[in-house]
Amino acid sequence: MLQQVNGHNPGSDGQARESLREDLQKFLGGEVLLHQLDDLTKVNPVTLETVLRCLQARYMADTFYTNAGCTLVALNPFKPVLHLYSPELMREYHAAPQPQKLKPHVFTVGEQTYRNVKSLIEPVNQSIVVSGESGAGKTWTSRCLMKFYAVVATSPASWESHKIAERIEQRILNSNPVMEAFGNACTLRNNNSSRFGKFIQLQLNRTQQMVGAAVQTYLLEKTRVVCQAFSERNFHIFYQICKGASEDERLQWHLPEGAAFSWLPNPEKSLEEDCFEVTREAMLHLGIDTPTQNNIFKVRRKAAPLTFGRDDGQPLS
Ligand SMILES: Nc1ncnc2c1ncn2[C@@H]1O[C@H](COP(=O)(O)OP(=O)(O)OP(=O)(O)O)[C@@H](O)[C@H]1O
Ligand SMILES: [Mg+2]
Repeated sequence: MLQQVNGHNPGSDGQARESLREDLQKFLGGEVLLHQLDDLTKVNPVTLETVLRCLQARYMADTFYTNAGCTLVALNPFKPVLHLYSPELMREYHAAPQPQKLKPHVFTVGEQTYRNVKSLIEPVNQSIVVSGESGAGKTWTSRCLMKFYAVVATSPASWESHKIAERIEQRILNSNPVMEAFGNACTLRNNNSSRFGKFIQLQLNRTQQMVGAAVQTYLLEKTRVVCQAFSERNFHIFYQICKGASEDERLQWHLPEGAAFSWLPNPEKSLEEDCFEVTREAMLHLGIDTPTQNNIFKVRRKAAPLTFGRDDGQPLS
């Protein structure tokens, strides 16, 4: 046990340190299989070293989620782990009598929250806070949660109401590529860094089916439009337009093929987020038709500060 040391008696300080070192050695010495500790509250003694060693052991064993009491610690695997997010696994967590007894997962958090809404006679809002440093996986995790609710909070009723529910879910999921195209950018730490904060509200009806969503954004880093740090890029949407516009659109939007723009540095970086088609498709599903989309993408020469071309119609260089 980690001993609490009161006062400043140098002797007892020394004893406590010695005892802590022994405990540390015993704990890290191999008696406990670190990767099997699925809750950081079981780590003993609780020190930065033991917690990090436990998380490291789990990471090495391809175990990316660990409980810390009622909080979930998610490690970014930095590689696709398809089986970890399959619809089958979502259903397994959803159907489990006690999901908290299954392996720690973001679906446990999703399911627990969903059950909290269900079990209350008068529904009370539930919140999930996803936090971490840039590149930690917050956007990924939020997307996972949205997909989870899209699968579990569906209407099993009639075919017709099922179709309506499916359309709503599709719209909710389609908000992600649109938000990310306009609000995310490649930074030194994350190729798809969200340059804004967001509050996503998923709305359920009395029978806990998803009926809508609202997304509120905060603090968009607007200065990035005109000023990007070395080796970083502007918002994805500009590169998507430059790479994905048709010949007609290029003419309309003053975007000669292969032109270089000083406000769009590092265009040679090829990211999967550079797909204009995905953004357009998602906008269409959200009800933004092609003429409206064109108005959004048509950046007028006089409309500073989003000007793409010079006053003489030539691209900036
Ligand atoms: N669970 C995961 N499985 C696989 N890849 C992941 C996972 N979580 C994150 N990633 C990868 O890490 C990248 C960065 O994650 P993400 O964009 O979610 O970070 P973030 O916390 O939102 O960062 P920022 O604060 O910069 O927006 C993702 O684009 C993805 O490639
Ligand atoms: Mg993000």
